[in-house]
Amino acid sequence: MATNYSSFLCFPFGFVLVLFLLGCSSKKVEANGFKELTANVHHQSHVIALSSLMPAKVCATPAKVSGAEILSKPLQVAHKYGPCSPLKKGATTTPSLHQILLDDQTRVKYLNSKTSNNQATFQDSAVTIPANSGQSIGTGNFVVKIGFGTPKQEFRVVFDTGSDLTWIQCQPCAVQCYSQQDPYFNPSASSTYSNISCHSNACKQLRSATGNSRACARTCIYQIGYGDGSYSVGNYARDKLTLSSSDFFPKFRFGCGQNNQGLFGTADGLLGLGRNKVSIVSQTAQKYGKIFSYCLPSTTSSTGYLAFGSKAGTTSRIHYTPLLKDSRGPSFYFLNMTSISVGGKKLAISPSVFTISGTIIDSGTVITRLAPKAYSALKSAYRKAMSKYPTAPAYSILDTCYNLSGYSTVTVPTIVLHFGGGTSLNVDQSGILVQASSTQYCLAFAGNSAATDLGILGNMQQQTFEILYNVAGGKLGFGARGCS
Ligand SMILES: *[C@@H]1O[C@H](CO)[C@@H](O)[C@H](O)[C@H]1NC(C)=O
Ligand SMILES: *[C@@H]1O[C@H](CO)[C@@H](O)[C@H](O)[C@H]1NC(C)=O
Ligand SMILES: *[C@@H]1O[C@H](CO)[C@@H](O)[C@H](O)[C@H]1NC(C)=O
Repeated sequence: MATNYSSFLCFPFGFVLVLFLLGCSSKKVEANGFKELTANVHHQSHVIALSSLMPAKVCATPAKVSGAEILSKPLQVAHKYGPCSPLKKGATTTPSLHQILLDDQTRVKYLNSKTSNNQATFQDSAVTIPANSGQSIGTGNFVVKIGFGTPKQEFRVVFDTGSDLTWIQCQPCAVQCYSQQDPYFNPSASSTYSNISCHSNACKQLRSATGNSRACARTCIYQIGYGDGSYSVGNYARDKLTLSSSDFFPKFRFGCGQNNQGLFGTADGLLGLGRNKVSIVSQTAQKYGKIFSYCLPSTTSSTGYLAFGSKAGTTSRIHYTPLLKDSRGPSFYFLNMTSISVGGKKLAISPSVFTISGTIIDSGTVITRLAPKAYSALKSAYRKAMSKYPTAPAYSILDTCYNLSGYSTVTVPTIVLHFGGGTSLNVDQSGILVQASSTQYCLAFAGNSAATDLGILGNMQQQTFEILYNVAGGKLGFGARGCS
């Protein structure tokens, strides 16, 4: 008879997976982003018009996904909030920057809890963070549209490189579903839907991927918990996944959620792009060769893309760095970050500062997190370069802020992140400064509290770049001006 999905929640939180908080949006973005007024000849600074920080009213750019080296059938990516969002207007309220940063910190804790060094930490945070605060932990801002079933039913899901399992809410919502804009997926209306048996290899794989050894009723059950107490539980199933008219996968394995505690805003579910065998990257490997790329737009009024497969490696515009595997976090994409330059000068940071924790790239973390020593070096160089501006108090996790009352432009130093293989990321000006209040602007980086916490390349600093994951080839590429 009816599976008791809720009982699975009594299990310890060790199984926890996912979380996505693809943040951004809100105040920091705009019109055409931070408009660069003058290009500094030595590329030591950006001049940013503060007026470009006003909230956008219209979706300016239609999806521009034609780049020659780009892939088959990209999906349009937009911020969850703002005029380009595929979600209906008024259905979701844009969270405040304060809330976004709180959520971001929750995600960072959660990601750290998924690394083997920190299992215990998570147990603690799982009980101390209040469940169901009513706030959307899924500030999950980057949303794409995908189809499930035959005939196809369409869903808007957030995508997440920090987790593996793809899931959507499913009828009959045996325990509960949170409200979403699209009708819930109806498995009985799909001629190609099937449950996965408990004793199948697919179910074993799911269990080892999620660390959950007891997920078994009559059929295979998945369960994902989040650091704040939200979760999704349901049938692990197969159905046709449609990305475009020519890109579909008949027996895609995904979670059909029957018990969903909704801190996901109104997105219908999640698309897991992690390294693990259950992720879409692994499941579509035969067709796309474990290659995908995306460009995250710098403003809510423009769009980016998510694409699979590519002629990767044939383009000179992309600069690659090795993609590292680390047994401490098998789902994550680790990078070899080696140093940082501010205003054209390399900071004196010992390389071991970066190797102690390792650095991952994550689509769902908003603000880049650095090891304490790396962050303090960045902060002091940045403060020096910004010394002509009056300082302002810290804002949430952002502790390097300026009062730009009376200024119409600001000159900020360039920030370049260096990676193994001699590749560097010259952070776009939209990823350097975030507007916290009408006159308060803060450096959009934060320091970790412990040297062993993961370094994380967050999505604000990825904005406007084409980020190409060649997982099979073991490399990750950065291409400037990837969204245009
Ligand atoms: C899948 O499993 C659920 C829960 O056991 C059941 O209600 C549903 O009928 C099953 N669907 C199919 C197509 O077997
Ligand atoms: C910035 O400076 C203005 C003018 O001196 C002042 O009114 C305002 O309160 C300051 N804001 C912050 C956030 O410090
Ligand atoms: C990281 O990059 C540096 C510099 O390119 C190199 O010396 C080091 O061996 C790399 N580390 C790993 C783990 O690849």
